[in-house]
Amino acid sequence: MRIAMIGTGYVGLVSGVCFSEFGFDVTCVDIDAAKIERLNAGEVPIYEPGLDALIERNLEEKRLSFTTDLDAAVAAADVVFIAVGTPSRRGDGEADLTYVFAAARQVARAMRPGTVVVIKSTVVVGTCRKVAEIIREERPGVDFSIASNPEFLREGSAIEDFMRPDRVVTGAEDERAENALRRLYRPLYLRETPILVTSLENAELTKYAANAFLALKITFINEIANLCEKVGADVQKVASGIGLDNRIGGKFLHAGPGFGGSCFPKDTTALAATGQRHGAPLRLVETTIEVNEARKRDMADRVLAALGPQVAGKRVGILGIAFKPNTDDVRDAPSLVIVPALQAAGVEVVAHDPEARGQAEPLLPGLGWRDNPYDVADGVDVLAVVTEWNAYRGLDLGEIARRMRGRSVIDMRNIWQAGDVVAAGLDYQGIGKPARKAN
Ligand SMILES: NC(=O)c1ccc[n+]([C@@H]2O[C@H](COP(=O)([O-])OP(=O)(O)OC[C@H]3O[C@@H](n4cnc5c(N)ncnc54)[C@H](O)[C@@H]3O)[C@@H](O)[C@H]2O)c1
Repeated sequence: MRIAMIGTGYVGLVSGVCFSEFGFDVTCVDIDAAKIERLNAGEVPIYEPGLDALIERNLEEKRLSFTTDLDAAVAAADVVFIAVGTPSRRGDGEADLTYVFAAARQVARAMRPGTVVVIKSTVVVGTCRKVAEIIREERPGVDFSIASNPEFLREGSAIEDFMRPDRVVTGAEDERAENALRRLYRPLYLRETPILVTSLENAELTKYAANAFLALKITFINEIANLCEKVGADVQKVASGIGLDNRIGGKFLHAGPGFGGSCFPKDTTALAATGQRHGAPLRLVETTIEVNEARKRDMADRVLAALGPQVAGKRVGILGIAFKPNTDDVRDAPSLVIVPALQAAGVEVVAHDPEARGQAEPLLPGLGWRDNPYDVADGVDVLAVVTEWNAYRGLDLGEIARRMRGRSVIDMRNIWQAGDVVAAGLDYQGIGKPARKAN
């Protein structure tokens, strides 16, 4: 079975490469010629652990190719996936579907009769049927199938997530679409992965409901963390206490600086807008968005408070800029709120991130970049951990203390033990636990 993957971003590239690893012939298409050129030269445009080796192997085996020629890739394909971006639309928070619709039109013009068109992008309920209409408009009378196959992979563990998902969700309403998707995901049967086959609307909404629920869970524990700080409790202990209840589960209960990334912010906003449009407001989701935005600003305020009454001219060091570890993605990262808020108050900000500098540099003008985490500590009044990269967990806190001008550490990811930080002579403020002064 030949696959054309339209859109070679995080999702299109990882899915395309993994399908080729399953043994299918995959052509990944993108309109970004520079990206395709880099991929053809063996360069991987995103940071995703393990992806480079898979690309190399499947290019060598000639099951994988990259092109800007959508027409040729689609004309040769049995199944065409649309995996283009669906960012937030300015103004109303709805998902911007223009890339999906434009891709659908191009696909319609080039496809052979009998093609299965699968929407992998996260799209609001009703979009797959609109895409089918667009295809019928472009190619009246042509035989094709439409399907939905939302993607649940997480950046940073995308390959593992794609190869060993908790479940695969498909919306398929005819036999050809269902058979094609079942065949594509057959390699997962060995692991007994549940493959849900349902209606287009159910599949589309499942993706948004899942992301909104996870965002809500994070936001819930963040608010519990605030309460912990007031009453002398420890959110990590509370989170493990509730997480052991199978009905709740321990994942997504890590208190932090608020969720960011390429999915939760825009997907919660789009779901809330969909609810409003249909007269079924999702008040929990709306509140989640509001609380989360306020939380990012609150993190900046905590840093400012630690600087004391005179903040202008002081220096803050930030460890981690990416929205989470193991990715270079900075879309809607808390750092994009925290850094400018500090700069606006007249603070000099310096930072390190193992991978995100290339993506973040144009978005954070005036930020001083350092090549290693220790250099971030040089002469700073406050040091804040914003992203929990593993490389930061084992840093020599004594060395950090020697390099800092001030004494204050704000660990927004709770990666360090308060006892170790205070033993190094620094004040420690984690999330959802009592602050501790240096010994
Ligand atoms: N990033 C994630 O972790 C993740 C996880 C699950 C689902 N999703 C969803 O998957 C979709 C894609 O997300 P992403 O993060 O991969 O986006 P992305 O912005 O990284 O990539 C989208 C790619 O599509 C290309 N493109 C746009 N129009 C095109 C066209 N007409 N023809 C060919 N290429 C075109 C762009 O040049 C870009 O390279 C979104 O709907 C997103 O919500 C993302």
